[in-house]
Order: sequence, then structure tokens, then C-alpha cells
Amino acid sequence: MTLSEQRLGQLGEAVELRLGLRFPRDRWPDLARGVEAAARELGIEDIHSFLGRLLAASTENHEIQILASHLTVGETYFFRDENHFRILEEQILPPLIRSRRGTERRLRIWSAACASGEEAYSIAILLTQLIPDLADWNITVIATDINPRFLRKASEGVYSDWSFRNAPSWLKQRYFRQNKEGLFELLPHIKKMVAFSYLNLAEDAYPTLLSNTNATDLIVCRNVLMYLAPATAQEVIHRFHRSLRDGGWLLVAASETSHVLFSKFETVEFPGSFFYRKSSDQPGHVGASANGTVVEDGSFFPPFEFRFPPEQQSERATSISHQDLQPLLSETFEPENANAYKEALALYDEGRYSDAADKLNLFSSGEGTDTKALSLLARVYANQGMLGEAFACSERAIADDKLTPSLYYLRATILHEQNRVDEAVSSLKQALYLDPGFVLGHFALGNHALIQGRYKHAKKHFDNALQLLVRYPVEEVLPESEGITAGRLAEIIRSAIAWSSRNE
Ligand SMILES: C[S@@+](CC[C@H](N)C(=O)[O-])C[C@H]1O[C@@H](n2cnc3c(N)ncnc32)[C@H](O)[C@@H]1O
Repeated sequence: MTLSEQRLGQLGEAVELRLGLRFPRDRWPDLARGVEAAARELGIEDIHSFLGRLLAASTENHEIQILASHLTVGETYFFRDENHFRILEEQILPPLIRSRRGTERRLRIWSAACASGEEAYSIAILLTQLIPDLADWNITVIATDINPRFLRKASEGVYSDWSFRNAPSWLKQRYFRQNKEGLFELLPHIKKMVAFSYLNLAEDAYPTLLSNTNATDLIVCRNVLMYLAPATAQEVIHRFHRSLRDGGWLLVAASETSHVLFSKFETVEFPGSFFYRKSSDQPGHVGASANGTVVEDGSFFPPFEFRFPPEQQSERATSISHQDLQPLLSETFEPENANAYKEALALYDEGRYSDAADKLNLFSSGEGTDTKALSLLARVYANQGMLGEAFACSERAIADDKLTPSLYYLRATILHEQNRVDEAVSSLKQALYLDPGFVLGHFALGNHALIQGRYKHAKKHFDNALQLLVRYPVEEVLPESEGITAGRLAEIIRSAIAWSSRNE
């Protein structure tokens, strides 16, 4: 079928909007091929109706997933870009691990746009080599992609020789077992270190607690920004900035580095590569760096020893977006506090968590402080990895206002991050006692049951959440959800139910 130029132009815009992918005119043939293949796979005979729905943004998420799988490139392999991995191994991870060893023993790393998983597993392998007492650590390696086919392959952890095309020789011998078909199966202890999930960088909400994309120490997002429209890439980078803890690192492919796009970050130069670092100071300020060289406006500064600021050496984090807090503004504040609160929210939205904490601390340290300020402060601390402080704020907020379910939910998310599972569950139950229709409470209880392998219980909680979700328009952002819509949560829950049923 031939599509008119005008139709292809519109299609390009629709795909850019839903997937963030950019298809300039010279790639229109790829676009047409991809859409036709997706329509075939979906069993859609009338491609014009499919196009119509795409243009009207009324396609369902599974259709978008199939479309994505026909429009994206999954080129990847183990230890891709040797230099990046050398820098991670020698310069970035050792000081990070040292700084956490004496304290919280937690790390969170995100391979964003992971394709079939080689990148995330390479990082997991590196961590096992760098942390001999790994069992005593709380390590989260999350890996996300838009293409469900890639994600399925990734979670199977079985690879052909092609995935090892640039890998060091010891990799296969030490971490894989060859199966009867001659393929290489990753050893279970590495496989279980990585959690794969679907996430559309252009459309989905992050950072969120639900997707574990908050309070990350390192985000590796290579060879995807180049396919995104510039405005989408900028937005993605902004959200990565919010997802990182202060001092956290962002790694992109060499061809994706840019002074303009990453202006919020400190640029740190290592031999042959630039890394980006979230500084707790204003963008452009030259702060503590790793062994690399901080670059400002094209000038170079001598390297100095990497040290985490003391406030980062405590516990880690949970992220809640400020969207839910916005309507709570001003009614109950003194005018000057309302302004300070607004400024703190803006800083929070910028991902400038230390500055937001400073602002809030100015007026929330006394007795009887408003619960909104306290709950924002709890979120700010949580995003900084300061879980002890976050928990204390949530307790103070509850002591001040015992009847607001969202405060119990907030406390539960912090307890969950602290691995205090039983207390998290009872806090969620308190939230549901106050409001049995609190969807996220049911969802979170389902997740707790799922993690504990109590699949029947999980299913019961998920079913409750689904029933409640029917009341919401699909596009409505759920209260306390960090920007997740009712439709998206329903999809997440359905796949969690399917997973529970398979494992029951
Ligand atoms: C070339 S691979 C990169 C794999 C790996 N990061 C690497 O560098 O080896 C690009 C990946 O980006 C994913 N991708 C494209 N658009 C995306 C989006 N909007 N959200 C999430 N992933 C996306 C594709 O599905 C594909 O797996």
C-alpha cells in the first residue's frame, strides 16, 4: 500500500507524539514499512482505520507496543563501548560503592532503553566483581524498554554468539552455561539481579516509586536519544535529572553528548568519554567530581578526589511527584510560607532536592508545622536517599493529621524502601481503612503479596484495584500516583495478574 506524502507526514507526527521517535522525510519508507508490519501483526486489515486511530491518539497501549517493536532498532551487545565500562569499573563505581559501604549499602542503577538486556547484565556482572559481599547489599538494577519482544528476550537471558561480539573472553566462561542448542544461558545469580519492565521514555511517568525509577545513582541510556525528537530528548533528560540522586551519573553514547542538551548536568571528562553528573549546586557550578575533569563552558579544570557530600551517605529513597501536592497550596499557609512552599515545589520539580529541603526546613522545623510542608519535605528527603529523615517527616505529618489516607500511603512507600515490609503493609491497611477506595493502596498491597510469592492474595488486591479503576476515565492521573493514568495502571495491573496466575 502506498501512503500519500501528507499521510506520512501526519503519521510521523503521531509516532513522534506517542513514542518520541523522530522520522524525518528520508526515513518515511521505514515508517511506512513499520506501520504496515504492525497492522499485519495486529490483524488489522483496514490500515486506514489504524492510521486514523493513531492520528487521533486513540490506539491502545498494546498496539503502541507492537508498533514500537516494528519501528525501533535493538542493536546491542555485552560490554558495548569498552571505554565506558572501563570508566565505570575504575572511576565511577568504586567511589560510589565506598561511600555506601559504611552506611546504607544500597545502589540503584537504571539501564533505560535496554533492548535485549545485554547492557543491564553487563552492569550486574561488573557489580558482582566490584562488591564481593553483594549478598549484604540492597542492589537494584532496573532495565526498561518500549519493545516487549526485546524485554521478553532480556528476561530469558539466553544469547547467541552475536551478543558477545565485543565482549571480553572471560565473560562466557564465567557467567554463562552453553545449552543444547549452542546458545549461552546467563547464570541465575546474575539473571535475578536485573528487573526488566516496559517503560516508554516519551510517554510514561518517571521518576516514580512504582517503576523504581526514583533516587537512582546511575542511569545508562545509550543509543536511544539519537532516535528521539529533540524536544522529547530534552524532556527525557530533564526527567532523568529528577530521577537521579544528587551526585548521580548519567551515561549516554559518545555520539549523543551535547553541551546544550545536558546543561542541567555537570560534564565530567574522562579519557575518551564524557559523563554527566547531577550536582547539588546550580547547573554550571564546578563541584566535586570523580577522577575525571569537570568541563565548564569548554574550559578544563584539574581533577580532584571524588567525595559524596555527607547528606548523601544515609538511606535511600522513594520519589513522589509534586503533581498531587499542587492543589494543596496556600489555603492553610501564612502568605510568606505559601510562597516558600511554592518555591520549594518548583525546586522539587527541577530535581533540586537539597535546595527544596533547605527552603522547607526554614519554616517546617517548628511544632505544629503544616502537614503539606512536612509531606513535601518527606518526599524531598526520600528522593535524596535520606530515608530516616523522610520517615520522621511522614510520622510528624501523620501525628498532625491522622485522617488523611495519602499520608499513610506516603509513610508506607518510605517503609517499603527501608525494607520494613510488615510496617509498610500495616500503614497501607490504615490508608485503606480511612479510604477503602484508595486505588494505589490496593495496588501496593498486591505488589507486597507478589514479592512475597503470595499470588492468590496478590490477585485479590489487584482485582480490587481494577474494580476501583473502572470509575476513572483512562486518561485521568490517579491521586498520589506520581503522574500515572488510570489506563496505564490498569495495564500494569493486568500484566501483574497474568504473572500471578502463571505462578500460582
Ligand atoms: C539501539 S538500542 C540501545 C540498547 C542499549 N542501550 C545499547 O546502547 O546497547 C535502542 C533501544 O531504544 C528503545 N527505545 C526506542 N524508543 C524508546 C522509547 N520511547 N522508550 C523506551 N525505549 C525506547 C528501542 O526499543 C531499543 O531497544
